[in-house]
Amino acid sequence: MATRPIARPDFGGSFPEHIAIIMDGNGRWAEQQGLRRVLGHREGINSVREITTECARMGVKSLTLYAFSVENWKRPRMEVRYLMRLLRQFLVGERGTLMDNGVRLRAIGRLDTLPELAMRELRATENMTAKNDGMLLRLALSYGSRAELADALRAAVRDVQAGRLDPDTIDDETLRRYLYDPRTPDPDLLIRTAGEKRISNFLLWQISYSEIYVADECWPQFRKAQLLAAIADYARRVRKYGGLVADVAPEPPRRRGMEA
Ligand code: IPE
Ligand code: IPE
Ligand code: MG
Repeated sequence: MATRPIARPDFGGSFPEHIAIIMDGNGRWAEQQGLRRVLGHREGINSVREITTECARMGVKSLTLYAFSVENWKRPRMEVRYLMRLLRQFLVGERGTLMDNGVRLRAIGRLDTLPELAMRELRATENMTAKNDGMLLRLALSYGSRAELADALRAAVRDVQAGRLDPDTIDDETLRRYLYDPRTPDPDLLIRTAGEKRISNFLLWQISYSEIYVADECWPQFRKAQLLAAIADYARRVRKYGGLVADVAPEPPRRRGMEA
């Protein structure tokens, strides 16, 4: 049965329409439990399911999960193979949950570097969920922000060479059009788990004005309560985008004699 957007909790402030998460700490969680690293990835799937479902229910419009970076190919072959198998199992096993919650799935990254079997299941899940009208779940797979910018530059230069793009008209919105998924607005809230205070090549361009929240919990421990804490923290932030906000920096009272 569909459970999608039923409630949007009142956090007494603004609500993030797009949440992006660097899901970190699977290996550390497993090691803390005396388990092999890869079992942390397996447990992390339960957090993905819970966070996706909760975000969809609360009315978050887009959720972007950093699942595998271009740099993660450097990991031991056995771990990479495990992760790719897990991706396939996730794509097949979670279709029902995605459909029940009206979630649309889309992937961003250098998808042509993914194994063929994973790609096949990815396309099948994207197609199956394409007409859902609830939350957009974006999986960043074989994703790197510098790679995305290099891909964008290459495509833009080709368009210049073909006479389709005038270099003098290029501005930041032009650049956006060459990114992997230009139609999705930038994240409002970026969460990183496992206490690490770095971006690790994730959405560098798109998070220019995102609010950043670091959770100490490892990803397998990041569940509904931790998500609500992050959203409540976001609601207390004041976003200024380089400008001034009236209730933070009120206009100074005009002194006599200054009136026009
Ligand atoms: C995040 O967990 C998942 C991926 C990068 C695929 P890690 O595997 O990075 O876990 P830690 O950081 O080693 O604990
Ligand atoms: C970032 O985590 C990538 C993903 C969560 C998929 P990493 O564990 O790869 O990042 P570093 O190595 O700590 O920077
Ligand atoms: Mg890590």
